[in-house]
Amino acid sequence: MSTAGITASRATADGAPPLVEVEDVTFFYGESLILQNISCSVREGEFVSIIGASGCGKSTLLQILDGALQPAAGRVEVGGKPVAARNAERAMVFQSFALFPWRTVLDNVRLGVDYRRRDLSRKQRNEVARDYLNRVGLSKAEKSYPYQLSGGMQQRVGLARAFAVQPTLLLMDEPFGALDAQNAELLREDVRALVAQEQRSVVLVTHNLDEALQLSDRILLLRAAPGRVEDDINVRELRDDAENWRIDYSRHRDRLWDFLRQEVAAAQGRSLEDRS
Ligand SMILES: Nc1ncnc2c1ncn2[C@@H]1O[C@H](COP(=O)(O)OP(=O)(O)OP(=O)(O)O)[C@@H](O)[C@H]1O
Ligand SMILES: [Mg+2]
Repeated sequence: MSTAGITASRATADGAPPLVEVEDVTFFYGESLILQNISCSVREGEFVSIIGASGCGKSTLLQILDGALQPAAGRVEVGGKPVAARNAERAMVFQSFALFPWRTVLDNVRLGVDYRRRDLSRKQRNEVARDYLNRVGLSKAEKSYPYQLSGGMQQRVGLARAFAVQPTLLLMDEPFGALDAQNAELLREDVRALVAQEQRSVVLVTHNLDEALQLSDRILLLRAAPGRVEDDINVRELRDDAENWRIDYSRHRDRLWDFLRQEVAAAQGRSLEDRS
């Protein structure tokens, strides 16, 4: 992946108040301790990526932020309010697209808009949905059904649906993971453009180190068994120093990869222990 054009044109999020505050969150699935004393925050307009080995609890943490899972202990607040149930202030983009197969592309995008923007007329809600479809280059596909679209196009619908809700917090769980390299790159450009235009606050889970380095303001490294925050890297600060960023890019990438490689090796070790 090219490192050219990496400098995302985003306003500074440093002075912004925290939008998401996670404090000492602990989560169990049954008897298994999955997340232990997780603390982190996301400022308004900030793009935070989460990296960690498979199974370390990244999706679990996103679902806690989405209000779909309740932690056993700890505090989770978005916009100063405890996250209780799922609501339209947050939007999620999944690796598996999660579109409704029996609805047209336009209806899929409009669904969230209908729920969130009851102040608008049906015509206006259609216009909002069309606007976001247009922004991801899918205006001609509005009457199609998901099965008639390629994977890349389906995920564009997923993006349009999430952004059209104009969420306070956008949660993305490996949104490009199911796409081929070319489509993933194109979608990344769409996300970068939409995020820059709208200054959305985003939490992205990804296994792709270049993606994290290029899109994020900060990267959280999540250690496994149980999941906990190992490091919080201010990438934007590094990237703002454009010359050194270019020179040091591979060093930053190596640092992430070293972490991930050790985590994957540790996970393999644990799984062998489990079997013995
Ligand atoms: N519904 C569930 N019931 C019980 N255990 C679960 C459930 N969902 C996930 N787990 C376990 O919780 C741990 C964390 O899962 P999670 O899906 O959050 O990991 P992840 O970091 O997102 O992994 P990946 O990178 O593979 O998506 C894993 O050990 C997983 O097996
Ligand atoms: Mg996951």
